[in-house]
Amino acid sequence: MISTPRFRPRNLLVTGGAGFIGANFVHFWLGRHPTGRIVVLDALTYAGNRSSLEPREPDQRLRFVHGDIGDERLVGELLYDEMIDTIVHFAAETHVDRSIHDPDDFLRTNVIGTHALLKAARMAWLEDPRTATGEHRFHHVSTDEVYGSLGPSDPAFRETTPYAPNSPYSASKAAADHLVRAYHRTYGLSTVTSNCSNNYGPYQFPEKLIPLTLVNLLHGKPIPVYGDGQNVRDWLYVEDHCRGIELCLLDGAPGETYNFGGNKERTNVEVVRLLCATLDRWFASKPDLTRRFPDAPRSAGRPSDCLIEFVRDRPGHDRRYAVDVGKAERELGYRPVETLETGIERTIAWYLDNEPWWSSVMDGSYRRWMATNYAGSQGLDPTEPRRY
Ligand code: NAD
Ligand code: DAU
Repeated sequence: MISTPRFRPRNLLVTGGAGFIGANFVHFWLGRHPTGRIVVLDALTYAGNRSSLEPREPDQRLRFVHGDIGDERLVGELLYDEMIDTIVHFAAETHVDRSIHDPDDFLRTNVIGTHALLKAARMAWLEDPRTATGEHRFHHVSTDEVYGSLGPSDPAFRETTPYAPNSPYSASKAAADHLVRAYHRTYGLSTVTSNCSNNYGPYQFPEKLIPLTLVNLLHGKPIPVYGDGQNVRDWLYVEDHCRGIELCLLDGAPGETYNFGGNKERTNVEVVRLLCATLDRWFASKPDLTRRFPDAPRSAGRPSDCLIEFVRDRPGHDRRYAVDVGKAERELGYRPVETLETGIERTIAWYLDNEPWWSSVMDGSYRRWMATNYAGSQGLDPTEPRRY
């Protein structure tokens, strides 16, 4: 039997590589693949931070390009000049709360931007005789939110679960997933889509539940828990997600989709209480934390969970997500390594060691971006509890 040679990515274009998962992926990939280059294309919105790539810059194997995925010409030039054979597409507007307040950017980047990227890839890899010479791969990073909301005893999302997005964010991601599928079926673009659950870990902007809770706990600010706090999410340590994407790039079949999750369903209030209890232990064993964070409740001898505040629910709030990773396990050998407890320990350790990173992204790049993009309007301030 003649076996087909496996696809081996050489030069990667990583869109959104200055964001949370993208930056983790860049570090992960460069650390494990000694040959080939990465070009990061990122528009540096409030969620993108060049400092997240700093330990790697300057690096002969990494180039940063400040630009928009919607700029088809720029993308085309990068694909040609850098001899890119693989796109790993992370760039997106990603925060559900923001999509409720202001959906336009979500459609612009997640739908129109993804389509511009697909068009540029099709032109370079399938149409242009200078570059349509070899194998290529378009890996699209998507979310479990496209499948909608589960009841308490519904089976977990499979790759065959019908799409039922409920927020402008998940609707925009669903639209992008459909476009990726269409470019495979219609034009033969070699695409793979992965849909994964809630990531957490280093470099996550403190607007999402885990880093927001952590930063607010350290500053003695309220922890806003939406509704009754019983909504369930599946939590995936970001390095496990990067491992899943690597498996897709190496062994994923063109046109396929794979679900990734952490097999760790928890209610939001359980996650917040776990963070509180873990941080309390850190304060008890490291006296310098009291000096560094005098406003933290633990510094005054109170337990961290005294800051929990139940607030009005997010509109359209999905009740439960759960991901069946059976296909990725069987076909790719995927298996998450971190438990929620070990992942939370690693995340807390990283945030305590990297206070300059989160202080500067919240006070510096975020505020500059808000002033330019939302002058005079009511943008969401990640440092304040969300009020619907
Ligand atoms: P993030 O918000 O942290 O980062 C997004 C990055 O994209 C930023 O660096 C931003 O500057 C960049 N960007 C935004 N618009 C752009 C544009 N028009 N052109 C170029 N760059 C642009 O996002 P994340 O949490 O790292 O998510 C990455 C991807 O993974 C997204 O596609 C998201 O839908 C998906 N995803 C995220 C999670 C999660 O829990 N964070 C879970 C499942 C799927
Ligand atoms: O499921 C994957 C998705 O996970 C990704 O596609 C999204 O990009 C990512 O933002 C995330 O979406 P969520 O809405 O699940 O994440 P978030 O951290 O915003 O919220 C997690 C849960 O916690 C959700 O049920 C809402 C709740 N929450 C969130 C915040 C920010 C609170 O109770 N209080 C909060 O302050």
